[in-house]
Amino acid sequence: MDIYQADMQLNAARHLRWMPDRIEINSEGVRIEGWALTLWDHPEQVRFLINGQDFTQVEWPLNSPDIVAHFDTLPNTKASRFRCWQPLEPDQSPYENGFIRFNVTGQFGEHRKSYRTAWFISDPALEVAVPSAVRRERVIGTNHLEFFKLGGATTLNRIEQLLLDRFDRSLSSFTSVLDWGCGAGRLARYLPRLSSAVTGVDIDPDNILGCTETIPSARFQQIDLYPPMPFAAASFDLVIGISVLTHLKEPVQNAWLEELQRIVAPGGLVLLSIQGMAQSALYRSSSAQRLAVQREGILYVGKNPQLDQVIDATEYYVDVIQSHDYVMAKWSEYFDVLDIVEAMAGNQDLVAMRRR
Ligand SMILES: C[S@@+](CC[C@H](N)C(=O)[O-])C[C@H]1O[C@@H](n2cnc3c(N)ncnc32)[C@H](O)[C@@H]1O
Repeated sequence: MDIYQADMQLNAARHLRWMPDRIEINSEGVRIEGWALTLWDHPEQVRFLINGQDFTQVEWPLNSPDIVAHFDTLPNTKASRFRCWQPLEPDQSPYENGFIRFNVTGQFGEHRKSYRTAWFISDPALEVAVPSAVRRERVIGTNHLEFFKLGGATTLNRIEQLLLDRFDRSLSSFTSVLDWGCGAGRLARYLPRLSSAVTGVDIDPDNILGCTETIPSARFQQIDLYPPMPFAAASFDLVIGISVLTHLKEPVQNAWLEELQRIVAPGGLVLLSIQGMAQSALYRSSSAQRLAVQREGILYVGKNPQLDQVIDATEYYVDVIQSHDYVMAKWSEYFDVLDIVEAMAGNQDLVAMRRR
């Protein structure tokens, strides 16, 4: 057995645990399909929850030849697909505070940390206009609309729960929130529901235009490829940057970490995502690549062409993977690195930091 593959796949089983790949909601009910990885639980012990309650109908475990290809070292992956159905009463809304929360858990159901594996979708009545397929694809590599909305709503709701869990604070308690590298507004489209002081910035002028047109309750600004940003020192008390540093080379990362340090107020929080083991398992990274990440600390994977049409610097946007040890040691030069939470930002790991 290749223990490096097993290590990546076990990480995904523990922290990512499951993913939905089809969700349908209409006046009759809610249907969800996906896959779940189980290490210890007997199939009968696995629970499928909608807003914390068991689904009425569950088909599980179903055959899943596609999942075996990703997680061949784990048990039970030949039958890890599920299909659930929850009928709705006439006039019953499945949305609580504007979102539905789905979860797959062991026999004891949800607990204090369960938000880390929950997936959320928004009430369509509260959605703002969606960005074009081209704009979406530039930031997540696929134009799949439901996946775009699911990823944004999920990451943002998990961040809200993390802030409550770790800092006893909600998003609404921050006076000035920066969505650094907001892209097509995947998170920013939901952020104003939870915070009244949202600024989104990006180097992509076309996506900034799209966000400005569709998300009126936040302000958006295009920024340059290199610091500084047009903000005074200590302007923000929370910065969220999802999958931004994963695309910058080490010297550029460091320049931006220094700039984030400048614009964050003392005591302010910075939440940045990195590619961790769970995402490596999903991407079927080779053991050699993962070993190189662990040994080098930071690995330059290659150029990423997704921004070629919108920025005039084709070598700027790249793919980078870094280890937890590297982040803990190197990013501490700029912030107190408090924690790295696996697979919390969609399927990336989230680094929680505080400005000294
Ligand atoms: C993978 S996308 C993620 C977008 C968004 N955060 C999300 O989660 O949907 C990365 C984004 O970072 C932006 N970006 C890259 N370098 C940046 C920088 N130095 N400052 C701000 N944004 C940057 C890109 O234009 C792109 O929109």
